Amino acid sequence: MKDRIIGTIRRINGPVITAEGISNAIMMELVHAGESRLVGEVIKLRGDRAIIQVYEDTTGVKPGEPIYGSGLPLSVELGPGLIGNIYDGIQRPLVQIKERSGVFIGRGDELPGLDRDKIWHFIPTMQIGESIEPGLILGTVKESERIEHQVLVPPDVQGILSRIVGEGDYTIVEEIASVTTATGERELTFMQRWPIRRPRPVSRRRVVDEPLITGQRVIDSLFPIGKGGTVAIPGGFGTGKTMTQHAVAKWSDADIIVYIGCGERGNEMTDVLTEFPELIDPRTGLSLMERTILIANTSNMPVSAREASIYTGVTLAEFYRDQGYDVAIMADSTSRWAEALRELSGRMEEMPAEEGFPAYLPTRIAEFYERAGSMETLSGKRGSVTIIGAVSPPGGDFSEPVTQHTKRFVRAFWALDRQLANARHYPAISWLESYSEYLPDIIGWWHEHGGDSWEKDRQKIMDLLNREVRLQQVVKLVGPDALPDSQRFVIEVCTLFKNAFLQQDAFNDVDRYSTVEKQLAMLRLILTYWDRGSEAIKGGVTLIKLRRLKVLAEIVRMKSVITDDQVDRIDLLQVRLERSIEKLESVYA
Ligand SMILES: Nc1ncnc2c1ncn2[C@@H]1O[C@H](COP(=O)(O)OP(=O)(O)OP(=O)(O)O)[C@@H](O)[C@H]1O
Ligand SMILES: [Mg+2]
Repeated sequence: MKDRIIGTIRRINGPVITAEGISNAIMMELVHAGESRLVGEVIKLRGDRAIIQVYEDTTGVKPGEPIYGSGLPLSVELGPGLIGNIYDGIQRPLVQIKERSGVFIGRGDELPGLDRDKIWHFIPTMQIGESIEPGLILGTVKESERIEHQVLVPPDVQGILSRIVGEGDYTIVEEIASVTTATGERELTFMQRWPIRRPRPVSRRRVVDEPLITGQRVIDSLFPIGKGGTVAIPGGFGTGKTMTQHAVAKWSDADIIVYIGCGERGNEMTDVLTEFPELIDPRTGLSLMERTILIANTSNMPVSAREASIYTGVTLAEFYRDQGYDVAIMADSTSRWAEALRELSGRMEEMPAEEGFPAYLPTRIAEFYERAGSMETLSGKRGSVTIIGAVSPPGGDFSEPVTQHTKRFVRAFWALDRQLANARHYPAISWLESYSEYLPDIIGWWHEHGGDSWEKDRQKIMDLLNREVRLQQVVKLVGPDALPDSQRFVIEVCTLFKNAFLQQDAFNDVDRYSTVEKQLAMLRLILTYWDRGSEAIKGGVTLIKLRRLKVLAEIVRMKSVITDDQVDRIDLLQVRLERSIEKLESVYA
């Protein structure tokens, strides 16, 4: 990189450096600080002073050392080779760096995000003479077993295609095409750069109209999220945020997963690294790493790279969205990201707002979630970015600023409940506090996919769950015996629903994932128990008799016994349930 000196270091405060004598710097410019050339970014410019956020440990850097400018904003490299990779918050490839230096990351270490030597097989789809617009597809490269990489025209290139290579093998730095533009020839490669803090352009925003199917019953059936939607998972310490994120990363029907481990413990990322390559995607039969990009900025890595990591993640996601893919991002945890923001702001001596967070915290949170969406791409395809952010409120108190602001900007909320987690009811997603605003958007999809009964059934079970809360209060006051059987049956059905449906064991091979067909059948079955059982009670059957039905034990076990391709066994259970209730009724008739 052609670095030029743009100023000198005046003061060092952890990851924040004040520089003076600055000339020729631009906002958000990527710079290298000091003799050891630590990677940094200009985040404030005033007169001849600049404030630089440094992405590495600044120990030993001294005042008077130079600042080198790059003339470019902090950007990521985009092209084939991202999938299956593991990066830090500013896209340094962690595995390669570890191989090279033996330690985790040496300071001033700079390895490019994309492998320069790897060869990709390119199949061109455009021809010489065609007019070139930003975002059009020049051809394809098989990036992984699963991903057909669409080689995109960068967003700033327009003109006539004057040259394109034939089908063959190329690296990401070889010229594959040339475009005659108004300002001259532009050579294109598989690779382009994009500044992480700026959203990539699209043709237009579409309405979200399809659910992201996660295989998690409480999510898909009760609090669904749309492809291109936003959701927060707030939860106190150890309530299951990471497990929920992992479940969605593993089993959801997104084409690509960008998993950002943001300030969490290193061992959680290690879990992902060891587990994902071995797990098989149930839809394609391929390893999950064939669709996953990991960004790791664990708690022991520099805070400023943590601050950048979510932008790096969302930019990579947008790049695949622009190729027409459905991408889902998990950020675990956005609270640690907000803490990084707070620390940096403190070191810059900015005026703190609520709980020491900077006043721009809500704007930053909003800007992040706004990058989600279902979009029409520049080439006319549809693609989406779904954002799933974990929030870890201190003490599990949802009234703190990060949770509260996040709630304003997301349209779904999977609230983790301490009491449920303590009772080992997993996932501990509260059915009372959680919500999803995507119901009306995705109802059409359910109708098209055999789920005509979904909306009605969902409402019915939600009503029962809400009735149960009030009944439980009565029970607390006067004991269960004061309630008539018809009301105790509400509690009975809800207990069955919680055990047989809502609880889902991530460690059980069958239970960890349920297709929508299985979810629909399970819900239908439990509601049949409610409908037919209520009728039977009206007809004089006692609750005790109902409760003793042998088939109930099998209903509780169906989630982990009946596999996804045996949904007809749930229908058989339903027939047996109806027959046994009929039998009870005949005794009373
Ligand atoms: N769906 C699930 N199935 C089985 N066990 C679960 C499930 N969800 C959570 N658990 C249990 O809860 C524990 C804590 O979950 P997890 O690590 O996801 O919590 P967390 O909210 O991310 O915690 P932290 O605040 O420490 O980041 C897990 O180790 C696991 O034992
Ligand atoms: Mg966690």
